[in-house]
Parts: sequence; C-alpha cells; structure tokens
Amino acid sequence: MDESTEDRYAFVHADICDTEAVKNVFETYEIDTICHFAAESHVDRSIVAPDAFVNTNILGTFTLLEEARRHLNRLKRFHHVSTDEVYGSLGKEGFFSETTPYDPSSPYSASKAASDHLVRAYHRTYNIPVTISNCSNNYGPYQFPEKLIPLMILNGLAGKPLPVYGKGINVRDWLFVQDHCRAVWTIMQNGRPGETYNIGGECEIPNIELVQTLCDILDEMVPSGHNRPRSDLITFVNDRPGHDFRYAIDCTKLKTELLWQPLASFGTGIRKTVQWYLDNPAWVQRVQSGEYREWIADNYDRRG
Ligand code: TYD
Repeated sequence: MDESTEDRYAFVHADICDTEAVKNVFETYEIDTICHFAAESHVDRSIVAPDAFVNTNILGTFTLLEEARRHLNRLKRFHHVSTDEVYGSLGKEGFFSETTPYDPSSPYSASKAASDHLVRAYHRTYNIPVTISNCSNNYGPYQFPEKLIPLMILNGLAGKPLPVYGKGINVRDWLFVQDHCRAVWTIMQNGRPGETYNIGGECEIPNIELVQTLCDILDEMVPSGHNRPRSDLITFVNDRPGHDFRYAIDCTKLKTELLWQPLASFGTGIRKTVQWYLDNPAWVQRVQSGEYREWIADNYDRRG
C-alpha cells in the first residue's frame, strides 16, 4: 500500500450490530455512500451455529439501514452485496435471473434473503437509494479457508484429505473476486436505485471436476515429492444437509445495461489464486491459528 492509498481510507474495526459504533462512523466520516459486504457467509457454519447469521446478516443490515435512514438527506447510495443462494437450487437446466422467486435452503441463505427484503423495503418505504447484487461463488486471494477452493489448496499442499461432499456432482458457477469487485463498483456508479443485478462468472463446474483440476494444478506447480498425485487425497464424505444441487447465473441484465462482463478465465484465475496462497504463508498461518478469534471473543464479551 502506498502513501496515497493510506490517505484515502480509514479502517474502523467494529461490529455492524453495534449501533453506537455504526452511528460514530456515520457521523465522524460524514458517510454518503455505503457498500455493504459485511456478512457471515459459510453455509456449513450456519448449519451448526445459525445465531451469528441471524445477528450479523439480518440485524447488522438493519442497523446500517436505520443509520442510512437517519442520514437520508446526504445519502447517495446504499449498495447491498448478496448471494445467488437466496434463489434456492436449480436442476440440471435453467439459470437464476433477477426475477427468480426466493427459495433459500440454509440458515445462511435465509438470513441473506431476509436482509435483501429489508433493503428493498427501505427503498420502497423510505426512498433510500439502494442497489442489490446477488453473486455466484467467489474465489481468489484472501478467501477464508473454510470455503471449497482455499480448503482444497491448503489441504492439498499439506497432504491432508480433500473432503468432497456426497458424490461431488453439485455444480457451482465460479466468479473471480476481481470480476465481482468490478461489477459491484459498476453497479454503485451506474446502477439504477431500487434495482437488483445478478453477477455470475459464466463458469459452471461440478465439484469433483473442480477438485480434480485443482489437484492437477497443484501437482504441476508444487510437485508433491512422493510421486503420488494429489487426487489420491480425494475423500468422499457425508453430504451437506439441504445441499443445493446447482447454482448458475444469468447476468444478461448487468451485461446489457451496465456493460460489465467477467474477464478472468477459470484457468488463469485459479492459477493466480494458488500462487497467492503459496506467496502468503504468514496470512494462512494467522487465519489457521485462529488468532483473529481473540478480537471477536473480546468484543462479544464486552457486549455481554
Ligand atoms: P462452499 O465453498 O462452501 O460454497 P457454497 O456452499 O456457498 O456453494 O462450497 C462449494 C461447493 O463445494 C458446495 O457444493 C459444497 C462443496 N464442498 C465440498 O464438497 N467439500 C467441502 O469441504 C466444502 C467446504 C464444500
């Protein structure tokens, strides 16, 4: 980060459910534009402990919306980042569009669906200038290793089992994180208030094929040393309850109205991602050690 970047941001480490902290940020920095990415986002975690999802995703969004409402006179945009999982599961055919009815399967996707509804309601009721984006599965640098791709990269490098749920036939539409961020920025600048835009990578891959490809790339980039292919580590495990079969996004609206399109091919995006995890062992070590949890524990203790 250079000096000019440092001059252009202030980082405040706080909980979006903490009304006082949110209020202070709005007042101190005279906020006129919000891009709301903050969420609990891992389906498996929501299955074992849904309360954090209800708190952060629903009540946290509510806290931000209320503060936006208090500052409506200066508010230019409230952009809410959401997920295609609110639409539920597809069969072998078809795509999610912006008009697909909501049908969430997990506590995670239900909490995001609830927050989307709140955001839309605040537009209709209080005229808050909102936009919403619903994206497909992200991958790339800095992704927390509970998600499929970083988990497989790190386990593959460590020679640990690669757990594939069920038969590995579930399909996801993979979106490189930089393409996602470019789409969010495009929507924030040029999207119409009150509108929803779907963002997809146009890159559907069944899980088992993805894990196999990753194994091949790891073997090529970091030969394992024992002459055994990483794919030997693939282990089929019990399926996730309520596991959505397929997600696939129709992003025609974003492409035609705002002239965005995904630029990364999966081949280049995934190699960049593997390289990033190889180049950042200190980050990996820190998140795997759970050090970041100390702050969360302290903060929750303080809230009683
Ligand atoms: P994930 O990264 O958790 O994203 P999401 O559930 O939001 O789509 O999982 C992507 C896919 O990979 C999903 O179909 C579940 C599957 N999966 C596994 O097979 N094994 C794993 O260890 C994980 C974390 C996910």
